[in-house]
Amino acid sequence: MSDTYDLVIIGGGPGGYNCAIRAGQLGLKVACVETRKTLGGTCLNVGCIPSKALLHSTELYEAANKDFAGMGIDATVKLNLPKMMESKAKTVDQLTKGIEFLFKKNKVDHIEGFGKIVDANTVDVDGKKIKTKNIVIATGSEVATLPGIEIDEERIISSTGALDLKKVPEKMVVIGGGVIGLELGSVWRRLGAEVTVVEFLDHILPGMDAEVQKTGQRILKKQGMKFHTGHKVTAVEKLKSKLKVTMEPSKGGEATTFDADVVLVSIGRRPFTEGLGLETVGVATDKRGFIETNHFKTNVPGIWAVGDCIKGPMLAHKAEEDGCAVAELIAGQPGHVDYNLVPGVVYTKPEMANLGQTEQELKEAGIPYKSGKFIFMANSRAKANHETDGFIKILAHAETDEILGAHMIGPMVGEMIQEICVAMAFRASAEDIARVCHAHPTLSEAVRQAAMGVNGWTMQS
Ligand code: FAD
Ligand code: NAI
Repeated sequence: MSDTYDLVIIGGGPGGYNCAIRAGQLGLKVACVETRKTLGGTCLNVGCIPSKALLHSTELYEAANKDFAGMGIDATVKLNLPKMMESKAKTVDQLTKGIEFLFKKNKVDHIEGFGKIVDANTVDVDGKKIKTKNIVIATGSEVATLPGIEIDEERIISSTGALDLKKVPEKMVVIGGGVIGLELGSVWRRLGAEVTVVEFLDHILPGMDAEVQKTGQRILKKQGMKFHTGHKVTAVEKLKSKLKVTMEPSKGGEATTFDADVVLVSIGRRPFTEGLGLETVGVATDKRGFIETNHFKTNVPGIWAVGDCIKGPMLAHKAEEDGCAVAELIAGQPGHVDYNLVPGVVYTKPEMANLGQTEQELKEAGIPYKSGKFIFMANSRAKANHETDGFIKILAHAETDEILGAHMIGPMVGEMIQEICVAMAFRASAEDIARVCHAHPTLSEAVRQAAMGVNGWTMQS
């Protein structure tokens, strides 16, 4: 049948669109079904891109307000929130249209509508049956909610509402001190909101290096963000003009209440597979709703899954890797993802980044390691830029010197973590990085110095 596709992808986010483009490049006949008007999924429309656009604008706004004068620049700064939102929307528009262009260039059919799996070879899109040899589920994730705290996207908001507030709230309460809470909390704090983060655990950013967590919280606190770690919000009551927030210690204890204008719910995300027909075709999910996969294959032959709807970090670049690997596997090539090499970056100021194993994980696994640490205070470029908060820590095997992980907090570390990614992909030792010439004065010299530190020959600049 000539009108049968080699693969139909359901979902046009980073997992889906990368899968589609790669499949097109490999000469497969491919279609991508997306229910949103625009391609790019959560990441381009209501995630990575709009949040980073606002983080960038507000970082400049705060720098202009607080740091310029100290560098001899006297400026009068005024916020124009509608214009800031317009600039964000323009970036999103350009990037989503870019995916349309790439689809055309790589002969990917973009089918607008809601996809439902009828059987392993048929996808129903709003009543129209599409035939295919393979189906790739790339339907992503949605915000996790708290019982009794209903998101209205105006006063009680998810990240989507937090990307589109019409005015700066006086008081914002953030439930969850994870990536979204800290990034979007930073955006609104910089614009003038009093931001209070309530975090269930006794530390922010679960999964990150303990020293990064601690330093990050200290710096964000110094910037004005308030924290109640070891606490949970149990109720949010909507009063006429305010919200009444009740929290209590996570381990139980006396409840306290306080006012807020806006509450941001950012307690994690869960896989989105609603209405997809998984039960009809018998695709297995785990108890949290993630689709069970083995090398991206579900238990139903011909049906694959990638990105946020399967296990692993819920990150755009991980979804991209998954998507490309599946396209290659379907084309008969050896598609592969190394999940140990998926970096994580938190785009606060300073940024935080991690890769590979943490010290805690190495200790638990009984792997002997040594560590090298370099503080930005001793880096000349950071000094010149007045951005000296933070450090870079590199962990290497105690005997072989192979790099096992890197944990960073400081200026531009979201870029610098890539050097470690490449090094680890080639199974480099700390000494390999230490012996590579790095330009002076650059922030990247801190990576080299941390690598030197692993074997005890750091030089302070
Ligand atoms: P998604 O991007 O969620 O795409 C799935 C798509 O499938 C959606 O467009 C949806 O409309 C569509 N869909 C679902 N069901 C159907 C159906 N039945 N038929 C048709 N279409 C369907 N990650 C990073 O790496 N870096 C960041 O800086 C970052 N920032 C973020 C900021 C925020 C505020 C949020 C919420 C997330 C952020 N993420 C970030 C996470 C990132 O957005 C996700 O990991 C990524 O988008 C997952 O890609 P995906 O393709 O699996 O799913
Ligand atoms: P998260 O998993 O990063 O953080 C959620 C936080 O909420 C955790 O610290 C958790 O302990 C806490 N929590 C859970 N229940 C709670 C409760 N009842 N009360 C108080 N705290 C509670 O999830 P988040 O921030 O919602 O982000 C979702 C996903 O989006 C993440 O998995 C992340 O990977 C992705 N993302 C990535 C970004 C990046 O890469 N820069 C930016 C934004 C999102």
